[in-house]
Amino acid sequence: MPGARAHDGVKTPFIAVPTTAGTGSEATQNAVLSQVGEGGFKRSLRHDNLVPDETIVDPELAVSCPPGVTAACGMDAFVQLLESYVSPKSGLLTDALAMSGMAEVRDSLMPVFADGGNMRARAGMAYAALLSGITLAHAGLGVVHGFASALGGFFDIPHGVICGTLIGAATRINIEELRKQRSHSPALEKYAWVGALMARHEDGSGNADAHLDYLVQKLENWIASLEIPRLGKFGVTPGDVDRIIGQTGIKNNPVALDTHRMREIFVSRI
Ligand SMILES: [Fe+2]
Repeated sequence: MPGARAHDGVKTPFIAVPTTAGTGSEATQNAVLSQVGEGGFKRSLRHDNLVPDETIVDPELAVSCPPGVTAACGMDAFVQLLESYVSPKSGLLTDALAMSGMAEVRDSLMPVFADGGNMRARAGMAYAALLSGITLAHAGLGVVHGFASALGGFFDIPHGVICGTLIGAATRINIEELRKQRSHSPALEKYAWVGALMARHEDGSGNADAHLDYLVQKLENWIASLEIPRLGKFGVTPGDVDRIIGQTGIKNNPVALDTHRMREIFVSRI
């Protein structure tokens, strides 16, 4: 990247105490700097020394988190787990963690949105968010986080809202492209496994096509039930699409997407 410099890794002592369940930053070497507006940017700084010295994950600290923040952060955690699970850089260990985390989101996200004092659900989401940080750090993320990175420099939109609002269309289009381009790809099979997990068919009952459809429908249901806003609510218009796409990286997406397909994802949630 032009003008990029290596971080020297110097930091003050760092104890991470998450008060939301979403980013998983308590388990990563990432830090983010952003400036919103014309000429805006959002850049990730990464260094081994930026991993927290200590992490305290206590679900009680998120009890006062309002429903809208709980929903957006929870969707961010799920998107991180799903995108790292289908990433070409995923492996057996990240797969196991991602599936465990997604099962917890399945069981906890709607209950904690309905009742913020539900400690079993708060704990499930804290666990899922922690795992999502570990899996994203090792396997990378896909097109939704590519959009989030580009959008974050131009508009003041909560990261979890961007991820949550785009994941339904992004998953549908990734699956469509995988079906067209590589009908037996490992990523397509993995999307089907996530659908089976969501449908509680972990025993392998049901068929892959039905599970793929179920996954997309489940995500759309979550977006509606959790009232995840559209991007247009934050001032994004169709005229912004080209410059956003121009800055969207998708190198760890499970399938290549052309500009037309990326536009389709984006425009569907304006
Ligand atoms: Fe994220």
